[in-house]
This record gives sequence, C-alpha cells and structure tokens, in this order.
Amino acid sequence: MSWDRQINLKTAAEIGMMREAGRINAKALQAAAAIIRPGVTTADLNAAAEEVLKKHGVYSPFKNYPGPYPYPASICTSVNAELVHGIPGKRKLIEGDIVSMDCGTVYKGFVGDSAITVGVGNLSEPAQRLLDVTRESLRIGIEQMVPGNHIGDIGAAIQDYVERNDMNVVREYTGHGVGRQMHEGPAVPNYGIPGRGMELKAGMTIALEPMVMLGSYHTTVLPDEWTVASRDGALTAHFEHSVAITEQGPVILTEL
Ligand code: MF3
Ligand code: CO
Repeated sequence: MSWDRQINLKTAAEIGMMREAGRINAKALQAAAAIIRPGVTTADLNAAAEEVLKKHGVYSPFKNYPGPYPYPASICTSVNAELVHGIPGKRKLIEGDIVSMDCGTVYKGFVGDSAITVGVGNLSEPAQRLLDVTRESLRIGIEQMVPGNHIGDIGAAIQDYVERNDMNVVREYTGHGVGRQMHEGPAVPNYGIPGRGMELKAGMTIALEPMVMLGSYHTTVLPDEWTVASRDGALTAHFEHSVAITEQGPVILTEL
C-alpha cells in the first residue's frame, strides 16, 4: 500500500457523515459478532455484516478493493494466526478460536473502517490476554490523538503498553488516514518515538488499528495472496476504530 497520500482535514459536517458511516459499520460488526459460535463459517460472518449494510443502502469499500486480485468480500475475517485481510469462506469456527472481523462502510461518500477480534466460546488464557491487551492498546493510542501531539506519540503509547505485556506490534502494516478514501495519509504505525512524526491537527480523521502478535512481529502472506498471518504461527489480534481529532479531543466514529 502506498502512504504518500494526501492528508485531508475534515469539516464538522464531514465528520458528522463519517460518524454515520461509522455507526452503520459498528452495527454490521455487531451483527456478525452476534452469530459467532462453533460451526459458523467465516462466510456466514460476511453475510451477517452484508445484510446490515444492505438494509442501510450502503456498501463496503473492501469489495473489489484493488490488490493481487480484487478483494472478494465485504469484510475481512482473520482466524488465530491470521492477522488481517483474511477472506471469508467455508472455514468453520471451532471453540477456542479468535476471529478478527474488519469491516468498512461508505455513507454519502465517506468511509468508516473498524475491526474487532472476538473469541469463540471459552478461550485459552493467552488468547484471552491477547484480546484484552490489543483492545486496551487501541484505547491507549486513541488517548494520544489530540491536536499538538505527534504521530509518534500514538505509536509509542501502543508499543510501550503491548511490549510491557510481552507481546509485539506488527511492523509491516499500519493504520491510516480515512475519509473520502479508505486509505488516506498519514500512515499511523503502532510503534514509534514520542514527539516524532507529523503533528496532529483538528480535522484529521484516522483509522487506528493495533495489530498485536503473541510471537514475533514478522508476517507472511498466505497462498490466497490476501491473508496476512504471523510467520511463526503464533496467535494475533486486531482492533480498529476510525477516530476524528478535534479541539475537544478524540471522537470515536465507529461505535454505536
Ligand atoms: N481495514 C483494512 C485496512 O485498513 C481493510 C482493508 S481490506 C481490503 O487496510 F480488502 F479492503 F483491502
Ligand atoms: Co483500516
């Protein structure tokens, strides 16, 4: 992905439309999460999310997104060692799996992009800890999204928290600006040095997406050419929110 993309500041009205996109996106993810149980396929999760998007007359920007071949679904489903960009299909979830679901919504020309990782039934202690640490690292990163801070402050806060919990942040993928395009500038790594990188300004809208790995941070792309997984096969998790930076502080756009 190329990250030398334009940074577009949004007006309050535009942020309002992104909030609507984000609300629908949250509903779609909630609907998919609600059917998770052993025996459900990842294609079923995609169908549940799609049904919500359809009801609202919107679509996912993931569908046909350019890549090795056009992305074939509305959401990404990434199970266990799979980190991001997993393609929904016939795989049946089993007790103890963790599945990341990443969904996008275009509403009146503006994009919402968010992801959650959900467990299937009872989880092992390491899997549960991975979900808790990844979810909390997103919250900690969002706290740094205030005007005057720098991109590096966000990544540093996430990295510090994750590494203190003996886990690793991915290096080969980042968060990103979001707006009229799903991927705008700036790139927002989940690692960094405080005070470094671009200064944050009110009106920036960013999809922050910590990708956390129980093993090493190296990744590999599976033979389907889309799915990104940990190279060592260890568990990974992913949470994402689209967030607006405002004078009043960060506003999460992709919640109900
Ligand atoms: N949330 C993911 C991202 O920010 C979605 C991209 S999947 C794709 O990169 F299929 F659309 F590429
Ligand atoms: Co994203």
